[in-house]
Amino acid sequence: MKSVKLGLLGVGTVGASTALVLKNNAAEIARRAGRSIEIIQASRRAISAGMPQGSGDIELTEDPFDVVNNPDVDIVIELIGGYEPALDLVMQAIANGKHVVTANKALIALHGNEIFLAAQQKGVNVVFEAAVAGGIPIIKAIREGLSANHIESVAGIINGTGNFILTEMRDKGRNFADVLAEAQALGYAEADPSFDVDGIDAAHKLCILSSIAFGIPLQFDAVYTEGISGVSTEDVIYADQLGYRIKHLGVARRTDKGIEMRVHPTLIPEKRLIANVDGVMNAVLVHADKLGPSLYYGAGAGADPTASAVIADIIDVARTITTDAENRVPHLAFQPDQIVDIPILPITEVHTAYYLRMRVDDRPGVMAEITRIMGENNISIEAMLQKEPEAGVTQATIIMLTQKIREQQMDDAIYSIAGLETVHGDVHRIRVETLDGD
Ligand code: HSE
Repeated sequence: MKSVKLGLLGVGTVGASTALVLKNNAAEIARRAGRSIEIIQASRRAISAGMPQGSGDIELTEDPFDVVNNPDVDIVIELIGGYEPALDLVMQAIANGKHVVTANKALIALHGNEIFLAAQQKGVNVVFEAAVAGGIPIIKAIREGLSANHIESVAGIINGTGNFILTEMRDKGRNFADVLAEAQALGYAEADPSFDVDGIDAAHKLCILSSIAFGIPLQFDAVYTEGISGVSTEDVIYADQLGYRIKHLGVARRTDKGIEMRVHPTLIPEKRLIANVDGVMNAVLVHADKLGPSLYYGAGAGADPTASAVIADIIDVARTITTDAENRVPHLAFQPDQIVDIPILPITEVHTAYYLRMRVDDRPGVMAEITRIMGENNISIEAMLQKEPEAGVTQATIIMLTQKIREQQMDDAIYSIAGLETVHGDVHRIRVETLDGD
């Protein structure tokens, strides 16, 4: 049978690993795909840096458009990342009738709707397993493995760099900047690491997971996004004392009023498996109506794990290359005419519990004022900790856990509490999720 010919865009960390694994595991991959698969052309900005050793039969070019316009290429592998020129290249590849495999979460989250429409019209496949949670086959699990179910929620640690930073802060008391530099050196971080730290990378991934879980259009702008730079070492310690871990979580949940899509630091009870996912590892917890909860765990970043997901996509496309377009698995899990626009809830309408940390005067009546405001806003307090003031200091730190409420109630209460003369500085809030399926 004719071999499947690949054109590779980008020979960075993941691209080089993809080329190497395709070569080293060629026989096993051919046994699975039913035909051999070979890279015939690759582009990189400066070809002098070269491909991995032993790739002499791959034609190199500095112009990525040579690859997407190459009539011999069946599948284009887009591993450049970012919005441009990736979007132009992918659209040109589709226009030329080529299938596309991409690891580019930013591209899919922001431009996926137009990309899939063009691919559908042209009868080609665009697949993106490596875009979410690195090597974990979470897209395939939700799109195909859970297709009998009504998905109720998806909650995941989907940024390896952020999880690595929070883990090192907790376990070794290391400072933020130090750990981030290490994540960059290890090749985990995005080209612009603020994407990791500010939650944008996780928001890209959550937007994609929400679409395939609920059959809604990709809508990155509707994801509420908060990064991890506001999480202090003392929050990590207090959370520990209360029996929680702080994780940077992406949560997508179906409710009667619409869909919640949010990325923020979150306290999770330490007994949950996902609370114990550390370092660069990712994990996604899915609540589905028939299966119940299921957890998917693995390496969320890094060259080989990401190449593993890219190559699985290549094999999938190679297997179906001769089938009719209508008989392939739909790009976003649901048939294109069945994607429905369910409202996305603003963060003020989201229901969750809260951890609060505030600095107050250490004198009688202060706690009474705070609890009065909580009561007026119909907020029930679940637990409270007062840390003894340090010697010679007249202020104390108060930590509170609330029951589940609407975010607007919490906003109103925080506004009033922060306005008290006895409260100093910001009232810090971190959302709390029990992740028990409620
Ligand atoms: N920067 C990303 C992360 C890479 O740390 O998870 C994988 O998408």
